Amino acid sequence: MLNIPEAVHQRYQRLKSELNHHNHAYYVLDDPSIPDSEYDRLMRELQDIEQQYSELRTPDSPSQRVGGVALDSFSQVKHEVPMLSLDNAFSDQEMSDFDRRIKDRINLESSQHLAYACEPKLDGVAVSLIYEQGLLMRGATRGDGSVGEDITANVRTIKSIPLRLRGDDFPELLEVRGEIYMPREGFNEFNTKARETGDKPFVNPRNAAAGSLRQLDSKITATRPLEMCAYSVGQYQGSQKPDSHFAMLRMLGTLGFKINQHIKQVEGIDACEDYYQQLASLRDQLDYDIDGIVYKVNDFKLQERLGFVAKAPRWAIARKFPAQEEMTRLLDVEFQVGRTGAVTPVARLEPVFVGGVTVGNATLHNADEINRLGVCVGDTVIVRRAGDVIPQIVKAVLEKRPQGAQPIIFPERCPVCQSSVKRTEGEAVARCTGGLFCGAQTKEAIKHYASRKAMDIDGLGDKLVDALVDHDLIYSVADLYELKLEKLINLERMAQKSAENLLNSIEASKQTTLPKFLFSLGIREVGEATAQTLANNFGTLDTVIAATAEQLLEVEDVGPIVARHIVDFFRNPDNLSIVEALRKSGVQWKDIDQTAQALPLKGQTWVLTGTLETMSRAEAKDRLQQFGAKVAGSVSAKTHAVVAGPSAGSKLNKAQALDIQVLTEQSLIDFLDNL
Ligand code: IVH
Repeated sequence: MLNIPEAVHQRYQRLKSELNHHNHAYYVLDDPSIPDSEYDRLMRELQDIEQQYSELRTPDSPSQRVGGVALDSFSQVKHEVPMLSLDNAFSDQEMSDFDRRIKDRINLESSQHLAYACEPKLDGVAVSLIYEQGLLMRGATRGDGSVGEDITANVRTIKSIPLRLRGDDFPELLEVRGEIYMPREGFNEFNTKARETGDKPFVNPRNAAAGSLRQLDSKITATRPLEMCAYSVGQYQGSQKPDSHFAMLRMLGTLGFKINQHIKQVEGIDACEDYYQQLASLRDQLDYDIDGIVYKVNDFKLQERLGFVAKAPRWAIARKFPAQEEMTRLLDVEFQVGRTGAVTPVARLEPVFVGGVTVGNATLHNADEINRLGVCVGDTVIVRRAGDVIPQIVKAVLEKRPQGAQPIIFPERCPVCQSSVKRTEGEAVARCTGGLFCGAQTKEAIKHYASRKAMDIDGLGDKLVDALVDHDLIYSVADLYELKLEKLINLERMAQKSAENLLNSIEASKQTTLPKFLFSLGIREVGEATAQTLANNFGTLDTVIAATAEQLLEVEDVGPIVARHIVDFFRNPDNLSIVEALRKSGVQWKDIDQTAQALPLKGQTWVLTGTLETMSRAEAKDRLQQFGAKVAGSVSAKTHAVVAGPSAGSKLNKAQALDIQVLTEQSLIDFLDNL
């Protein structure tokens, strides 16, 4: 390295360690320390130096995570310490049997408590990572436990896996084991995109992780949102090993690995059961799939004494959760029509207990998905319900197809209004073309209009809207304001008092704001935030109505698709006559003064986090938006200010790291009052 100037060398080392530090903060601790733009700048500087002085570039450089040349095949590797599997327990009884067996073996009184480490059982792919002198040398799959596949190039692309161990206090040889998984959000995004582009979606996050790791081209793996959590070690040489599992996990955390944040050390089997209940109730909220809990005897000496049977240790067990995938029969498919006319096939299933609830319906998404699954009515299917995502059919079990199974035919006419169903080129969704003549679209449009964030008509729930439309009492939102008490009380289960209350809420809804009104019209792709921006930018309804696509495109956050939907909406004479009728009935709002004084927060993005005590989040958001601010859900370098209530967490940390001003709820109120 003689030809490299010392200053460049030093700068290069500094950049490497800074980037590694920020990478760790971002991917392992979920707690970013600098804005993305600054990270990108440092990375570019590092890459520029590597470009000029290629001999500086080492495999542990933060620039080396993008994947390399594709392989022809994976080579096989031997696990010096076998990768074991776990015995399963399915009940409390099997858990206490496990506890008793251990106590018997180590001659512990049954009344005494053993210390256990409790961990979520992550549903992904097991991996072994070998570090020599702190450098990642090899990544391998479990395979059959003694021989796996070399997936080094692929694991190197996973940002939560350190390429070099942190600090300088580590064993010469360290084999870290853990689970590589795909978080639900990344999985759902991947599948949504795959469905849109006609690619094959993954069946579940575990398959997604396995499929991504099986790529011979590591550049593909690099594009997949994979993470890794460490949960044990294999080979360990060259320093004193910690004396318990928990201490080992702590050490792995210090060395730069992600450790699951729900791990807990407990005493005794009853505490294990409490932990199981706690995690079972958290399961749906986690952002990754877990299929159970792993309990491990904490003390390494005891683990050694207990040893193994066949391929599983005696000192650990997996307590399984109820399955998130089950088999059942597809009884029928119905086609539902939504507010925007989207026709969605809904599978009617023989009820089955899956993911903790009884499921009778599942979405089939669209015609492409039906074709892809090749599913027929009468088929046995695999249903998946994970988290609070709506249940999905992931597969038809073809071996079980009965004679006479009926192919599913996507309707050419709307099942509600008989208008034709059309599919726009390039879109997966098919839509009923009946517009507001379609009873289904009318009902959904009215439900949206009455909803809390729109016109907030108390007492006008979904069932009542269905009844009003089915009894020909209303045909559009404008008819709501013509409803009469005598007609209402003739409806089934409608008492005089509730009818009066409903009429009062309908009357009260006449006083609204321009953004709420714009939102309530249900224009495609115009959510609350867009409605607010439109109101702030145009000030009056008539200017929004008259706006051309070009004028709309000038508004921040309005893209060509939204602009087209807005223009189309107001070009439709039926929609215009409904808007007119609403204004005639007395629906009114104050136009928005667009002078700079009226919108002092224009161009600023604010974030609300933690619990607010004197006003609701919605109120705080409304008030900020009225002054022209945008209210976003996440903190970035572009955030102007963050309002943090008690219990604020990572958003507050990020704001502090980025040096963004943080206000308390009271200081927000004072600030707004003085505007
Ligand atoms: S410990 C001897 N801990 O479960 C101990 N395994 O059926 C072996 N797994 O192949 C593993 N989360 O892929 C352990 N916190 C956890 C785990 C975990 C998921 C997987 C792992 C293993 C399988 C065992």
